[in-house]
Amino acid sequence: MKKDYTILVTRQIPEAGLEILKKNFKNVIVNTKNRNLTHNELIKKVKGVDAILCLLSDKIDSEVISNMDRCKVISNYAVGFNNIDIDEATKHGIIVTNTPGVLTDATADLTWALILAVTRRIVEADKFLRKGKFKGWAPTLLLGTELAGKTLGIIGAGRIGTAVGLRAKGFKMKVLYFNTNRNETLEEEVGAKKVSFETLLKNSDIITIHVPLTPKTKHLIGEKEIKLMKKTSYLINTSRGEVIDEKALIKALKSGRIAGAGLDVFEQEPFVPKELIELDNVVLTPHIGSATVEARTKMAIMAAESIVKVLSGKIPANVVNS
Ligand code: DGY
Repeated sequence: MKKDYTILVTRQIPEAGLEILKKNFKNVIVNTKNRNLTHNELIKKVKGVDAILCLLSDKIDSEVISNMDRCKVISNYAVGFNNIDIDEATKHGIIVTNTPGVLTDATADLTWALILAVTRRIVEADKFLRKGKFKGWAPTLLLGTELAGKTLGIIGAGRIGTAVGLRAKGFKMKVLYFNTNRNETLEEEVGAKKVSFETLLKNSDIITIHVPLTPKTKHLIGEKEIKLMKKTSYLINTSRGEVIDEKALIKALKSGRIAGAGLDVFEQEPFVPKELIELDNVVLTPHIGSATVEARTKMAIMAAESIVKVLSGKIPANVVNS
């Protein structure tokens, strides 16, 4: 029997998730516009709903939350939840959930796609060819950097950081990691070493970021940290843009202070600074870490199931404000 609850889904998600909601609840309101809801639209639409399934790009701040007069659960269609004012939700007795685990492999794969693309100059090479510049094999054409024997530095060895580190074995890389806790999987499987932040910055050839965005991790990498990195190193970010001070990174990339970067996330998405776009030593993707059919489908199912659980009086395992 369908329960008499109203669910707001802020953007079309894979059908598998919507089916779960439609099977369980009488009113499922989906934003079918081909764009995100504006802040004002969110403020209006959250009134009278029992649950909201939202995106990482929906700013669920105190203003939005204070208009949630019946909402029991905010189910974020993402593993990161920095878009939600967690304290405010907790104050209002609203449970917040995310989608951990199901996008780990997709994000780790994209991280490696960026590592390979930037070190082997794939985007530059593709453009070169399409412009008709390929006049035959040449000994020094588009030389890149080899990964074997180099050091991968992982900042944040949680689920995604671990999956990235495990893939390093296939590329014959050494692995360093910076994390609060020891990561036995990485140590046992790839001989990774837990090191200080400074040691990682100084000794890695590729640095990849996998920390959540919190007040502590905002601008974790700035001018000071970049100065510690090798001039030949590359910086990869598939976590959140604000973890890197973008201005400092642009300066470093322009001056050759580091060799390059692979970025899937930006400080003020969807804005991407023109200066980054103009640089050849950067590979840019539009926040597609979890963008596989498999991951997005599992995220939709997990996000919908979280709502079903909470509205049935159960507490899902993936609550972030317990
Ligand atoms: C997440 O789920 O937080 C990812 O950034 C989505 O790509």
